[in-house]
Amino acid sequence: MPVKKTTAPQVLLNNVGALPELLSNIAANMLLEIEIGCGNGHFLSRYAEKKELSYLIGVEFKKKRCLKALKKIQTYKLTNAAIIQGKAEELIERLPANSVDKFHIYFPDPWPKTKHRRRRFLRMTNLENLCRSLKPGGEILFCSDIYDYYLQAKLLFLISGKLRLSEIPPPPQVLKSIFGRKFLSVGKKIFFISSRKLAD
Ligand SMILES: C[S@@+](CC[C@H](N)C(=O)[O-])C[C@H]1O[C@@H](n2cnc3c(N)ncnc32)[C@H](O)[C@@H]1O
Repeated sequence: MPVKKTTAPQVLLNNVGALPELLSNIAANMLLEIEIGCGNGHFLSRYAEKKELSYLIGVEFKKKRCLKALKKIQTYKLTNAAIIQGKAEELIERLPANSVDKFHIYFPDPWPKTKHRRRRFLRMTNLENLCRSLKPGGEILFCSDIYDYYLQAKLLFLISGKLRLSEIPPPPQVLKSIFGRKFLSVGKKIFFISSRKLAD
C-alpha cells in the first residue's frame, strides 16, 4: 500500500501542545512510534531510515540535543520523523488513547541514588499513560545498563495488569546509539525488556 508523505520534519521547540497538529498530519496507514528521551537522535534517525512505514516522534527536553537530532533527520532526508522539545511526561498525557504502536525507552536517565529514584521516567503514573495511549498489541521497548532500573521496569510492566512481557531482541540500532556504544565499549551489560499491551 503506498504511503502518503507527511509534512516536512520539524522541531517543535518547547511545544508539546503542538502534538495534535503533528499527529493530524501523519498518514493514517503509518505506524506511530515514539522515543522517550531521544537524546541526539542516533537511534531515532537510524531506525526511522529503515522503517518507512512508521512515523517516529522523539521527545527530548534538552534543546541542544533536539537540534542535533533534527540535523540527523535533515541529513538523512527523513520525512517520517519529528522531534518535540519538552517533557515526555507532558507529551504522553496528550496522546490520544489507543494511538501508539510502539514506545522506545532506551538508556533513560537512571537516577542511581536511592533518594532520586522516584524521578525516574518509568514510574506507575507515566506507565498508565503509556498503556492508555498504546494500541492493543502495541509495545513498550526498554533498555538500561542499570540492573535495578531494568528490574523496576519489569516489575512495573508485570503489576500494571495491562501488559504481557514479550521476548524480542532489541532493534540493532539501539546498540549503535552514543550510549549503547559507550556502555558496550566498557564491557557493560545492557538489559533489554519488551512488553505488549493486552487486548481490553
Ligand atoms: C542517557 S540519554 C539516552 C538517549 C537515547 N535514548 C539513546 O539511546 O542514545 C537520556 C536522554 O533522555 C532525556 N530525558 C530524560 N528524561 C526526560 C524527560 N522526562 N522528558 C524528555 N527527555 C528526557 C535526557 O535529556 C537525555 O538526552
